[in-house]
Amino acid sequence: MPKKTIVSRYYDKIADHYEEDYVGDPYWKLYNEITWLNIKKHLPKKKDSLLIDVGGGTGYWARKLAKLGYNVVVTDISERMLEIGRKKARKEKLHKKIFFTYADIVDMRDLRSDRYDFVLCEGDPLSYCSDPEKGVKELVRIAKSGAVIVASVDNFFSALKKAVTLHPEHLASLLKTHVSNFFGVHPQYNFTPEEIRGLFQANGCQVLSLIGKPVIAHHDVWRHNPNYRRLLSLEKKFNSRPSLVANGGHLEIVVKKG
Ligand SMILES: C[S@@+](CC[C@H](N)C(=O)[O-])C[C@H]1O[C@@H](n2cnc3c(N)ncnc32)[C@H](O)[C@@H]1O
Repeated sequence: MPKKTIVSRYYDKIADHYEEDYVGDPYWKLYNEITWLNIKKHLPKKKDSLLIDVGGGTGYWARKLAKLGYNVVVTDISERMLEIGRKKARKEKLHKKIFFTYADIVDMRDLRSDRYDFVLCEGDPLSYCSDPEKGVKELVRIAKSGAVIVASVDNFFSALKKAVTLHPEHLASLLKTHVSNFFGVHPQYNFTPEEIRGLFQANGCQVLSLIGKPVIAHHDVWRHNPNYRRLLSLEKKFNSRPSLVANGGHLEIVVKKG
């Protein structure tokens, strides 16, 4: 039996309504649209490629990939997220294209090296795991040479803004450790853009892009009723600007394994 952790217990608890919690929130709609545009740009040409979604939870992205024709392996440490994922895939008749299995990103020993044509890691498993450096090493290890890896992580500067305005009691420890746990849910490691770049480069990868998600819109922007399409087009135009990346709610890096 896989070991339960504070993180896996948390996701086990929220799995049944995890995806539905984001529906209808314009901030997450924008976030997901930016993410999907970024993922689609880097997908392998051949539909018989094998893709993996590490920390893929209920398979939100895997189902989109399967609908494009790809076969996808989804790994996660939350058994309940995987179980809900299997049900959702079956309901959409995608169960033959998606395989759900337990694996901790820091030790994916059951997954072969140099095997996957595209590696996805969305929603910050690298920030939530016990050792982000090992997590990056493992993502690179399982990717084929020349394969693209897309990973999103929590942004240190976004956490810093939250700490200084809303959670000043957490500021000193955030500055010292880069770890935050503002709501007592589970700790998360917040990366600077330089740090996440450096980690992948140290593992022999070439950085193709680094974007902030989103860089202009923030949660409260919707109070002012902006035009959604215009905002999305501004995000697309500016989200890879080096001067704006650190402003992102999250960071998303795209690299190629050497
Ligand atoms: C915010 S959810 C994102 C789920 C999915 N990637 C998505 O974007 O919809 C974070 C996921 O990371 C998983 N996770 C956290 N730590 C992990 C680890 N050490 N190894 C694998 N998955 C992990 C959680 O169980 C959860 O399913």
